[in-house]
This record gives sequence, C-alpha cells and structure tokens, in this order.
Amino acid sequence: MATHKIAIIKGDGIGVDVVNEGMKVLDALASKYGITWDYTEFPWGSDYYFEHDEMMPGNALDTLADFNAVFLGAVGHPDIQDNITLDGLLLPIRRRFDQYICLRPSVLYPGVTSPLSGKKPYDIDLAVVRENTEGEYLNIGGFAYYGSPDEVAIQTAVFTRKGCERAIRYAFDLARERGKKNHVTSVTKSNALGYMTIWDRTFADVAEEYPDIDTTSLLIDAACMDLVRRPEMFDVMVAPNLFGDIITDVAAIISGSLGLASSANINPDTSVPSMFEPTHGSAPDIAGKGIANPMAQILSGAMMLRHLGEDAAAADVDAAVLQLLERGETITPDLGGSSTTEGVGDAIAEIVSS
Ligand code: NAD
Ligand code: IPM
Ligand code: MN
Repeated sequence: MATHKIAIIKGDGIGVDVVNEGMKVLDALASKYGITWDYTEFPWGSDYYFEHDEMMPGNALDTLADFNAVFLGAVGHPDIQDNITLDGLLLPIRRRFDQYICLRPSVLYPGVTSPLSGKKPYDIDLAVVRENTEGEYLNIGGFAYYGSPDEVAIQTAVFTRKGCERAIRYAFDLARERGKKNHVTSVTKSNALGYMTIWDRTFADVAEEYPDIDTTSLLIDAACMDLVRRPEMFDVMVAPNLFGDIITDVAAIISGSLGLASSANINPDTSVPSMFEPTHGSAPDIAGKGIANPMAQILSGAMMLRHLGEDAAAADVDAAVLQLLERGETITPDLGGSSTTEGVGDAIAEIVSS
C-alpha cells in the first residue's frame, strides 16, 4: 500500500484537459494496485500570472520539494511572451530539482498511420535522451541598449563535462536496458559550433566503457533528415538540450502525433521530485475544443508510475492505450478519429480498472 504525494500543475490551454484525463486513469489504477494518490493541485500558470504578475509564488519551488513527483500539463499563453511563462514556471522546476534527463520515447504503434506511410508498427521505436539542464537553456545572458536601435542580445550556451557525461551515460544504460538494437546515436553541431566538441569527446570516452553498444554520431541537420528518411536506424538518441527539443517534435510526428508523445524530466535521485509532462505544449489552436489527444499525458503518467516503482500499473496503462489504438474506434482527430479528450480518457480508465 504505497502513498505517492503528487503535485498537480494543469497549467494552460489543453494542459488542463489532458491532465484531467491523466488523473482519471491514475485514479482508476488506485484500488487495483493499492496505491493512494495524495494529490495537491496548484493553480499556477498564465491565469495565475494575470492575477498575481508571476507564474507561481516565490516559494513555489520549496513547496514542490516535498512531493514525490510533479504531474504537469503544459504552459504557454498566446497573450504572454513565451520566455515569461516558461522561465517563470517550467524551466525553474527542471533546474531546481536537477532533472537532468528528459526521456522521450517515440513508437509507431499498431493502428496509427505515420505521415511516413508504408512504415509498419514498431518500424519506429526509439527513445531520445535529452540533456535537460544545460546548453542554451540556462538563461545566462542579457540585453544591452534594450529597445534602442543599437540593441544587442547575448545568451551563452553552457556545456560541462559532468552535465554531458551523466546524460550520455544514461543513454548507454538505457540502450542496454531496452535490449533492442544496442545502439546509441549522438547528435551535435560541432562543425559550426566548436564548443560542442566537449560533448563529442565525452561521448567517445563513455562509449569505450560500453563495448557491447554500437554508436553513430550525427550532426543535427542530418539527424532530422534521417529521422524522416530512415527512422528504423535509431534506438537511443542522445542530444544536448536544444537539439533534443527539436528532434523530439520530429520524432513525435513521424510516429503519428504530438498527442502520443510522452515525456519525463528525470533526476534519478528519488529524494527530489521528477516531473512528468507530455512533449506537446498548450496548443492554443485547439484549446477549449475538447479534442486534444490525452494519450501523451496519460503515457507520461505511465512513465511517472514506473519512476515511482509501480511497474505493473504502468504496464496496464501502456496496454490500454495500445488496445485503443489497435481498435481504432475511440481516437481523437489528430489520429483520424472523432472522439473527444474525455471520451478517450474514459475509455482508458475503464480498461485499466477492469
Ligand atoms: P504545441 O505543442 O502546443 O502545438 C503544436 C501543434 O500540435 C498544434 O497544431 C497543436 O494543435 C498540435 N497538438 C499538440 N498537442 C496535441 C494533442 N495533445 N492533441 C492533438 N493535437 C496536439 O506547440 P506550439 O503551438 O508551438 O506552442 C503553444 C504554446 O505551448 C507556446 O506557448 C509554447 O511555448 C508552449 N509549449 C509548452 C510546452 C510545455 O509546457 N511543456 C511544450 C511546448 C510548447
Ligand atoms: C518542451 C518545450 C519546452 C522546451 C519549452 C516550452 C520551454 O518545447 O518541453 O519540449 O523547449 O524544453
Ligand atoms: Mn519542445
């Protein structure tokens, strides 16, 4: 009988709808697996900003420190500049709890048509390990002569040996654990950006410790091209923060939809909370229409369950999503269906509780 203290941040746009469905599925697993969910919901995000001039209160990070995990929807509002919303909520959480791995699987499931049609289920089955705390995301920089014709903007990328090494090592361990192709692809842009050779050198050093794992190194432009041209080649991809962000949107769409792309911001040290949120954002173009696909959020819930040691419950969620996709009757418009967000959430909750 485990109790898990979970901080719920629904956030903005479709984040609210998909988290509601995610919680519905987590609740449906509770009695079957003897799990007690001790949720605390925080109303942080853009509506909070309109009222309080900040995305979350000053002590928010200390508050979150008491939780086992954070279950987050999405942050972003068309009327607020993205750097305000994201540097006010999402990115400080990733940094404060040193969630240095962003793990994002991409699988072409049965029942789903890839825009690369002709690909069979599981032709695409890869996981991206994105370094999640360094690179261009540290917000080190600023403006001179702000707003004037002479304005200058500078932001510095930060790469440390420790930061590169722990992400790369995680990727090699993951390739072993998956036991699929025993292959890791590293992605940089060292031909143009010399500082990234620290990543390449670290990759080469770590690779020596894993003689059973094959490696490939690609430049980001070629990696994006190969994700479309021959996605079958990939098993585990490991990339610095910004490139990991870009390739995970590409990986999401070639396997059907951003609405299927789950994501985990992980610090393997369980004394601090990790955070589970889908790869997609708040999708203002479909917000309020009730048609967002909640599967990415629900599958992110399965990643949270695994992180909490609830492997059997996580496997139930994965199986339920797979069953719905194979049946192809209860799916949202992004996958060619006509079901609602709630309809899909209800169906998954029903399967896992039976
Ligand atoms: P987005 O991921 O929100 O949407 C991109 C496209 O994918 C849209 O056409 C949208 O309708 C579609 N889509 C996304 N999720 C879907 C789902 N679950 N079901 C069906 N279709 C889905 O990216 P964007 O439009 O570039 O960004 C919108 C806002 O979200 C911005 O403010 C951005 O900064 C923010 N954002 C936040 C996060 C996050 O909080 N983790 C992630 C990405 C973007
Ligand atoms: C993601 C998002 C975020 C990122 C944004 C919203 C800051 O795109 O989680 O992929 O770039 O990390
Ligand atoms: Mn992204």
